[in-house]
Amino acid sequence: MDDLLHLARRMMLHAHAPYSKFHVGAALRSEDGSVHGGCNVENAAYPQGLCAEASAIAALVGAGQKRILECVVIGPGPEVITPCGGCRQKLREFASDDLPIHLCGPDGLHRTVTLGQLLPMSFGPQHFG
Ligand code: THU
Repeated sequence: MDDLLHLARRMMLHAHAPYSKFHVGAALRSEDGSVHGGCNVENAAYPQGLCAEASAIAALVGAGQKRILECVVIGPGPEVITPCGGCRQKLREFASDDLPIHLCGPDGLHRTVTLGQLLPMSFGPQHFG
């Protein structure tokens, strides 16, 4: 996960978070081994802001990928940062319950959880058969 952490850190430096001042980076590994990053992009009209995970998912899908195998999220610490509810659902579209999500801070890995732990009994693409 070192490559993902490195990318997520770099993304965090690019975050546009002038309102919350809470910079977040995310990085995803897709099925073909490629890695895709994103950062939070806030907006003067607050609800229009984009989370780092959502921006990384957009990069992955834009690169023609549809399957996420590993995820790193990094926040400014010291609290462990976890993806918001909306991002958990967005990840679910492209990943299964066993997706490892590495929760990191400036000092490195804090904890690894699975998507299934963060979003139990999820609604997902399988409901459409
Ligand atoms: N944020 C993320 O980008 N990812 C998370 O996992 C949690 C929160 C962003 C949204 C907003 O720009 C800022 O952090 C404060 O909520």
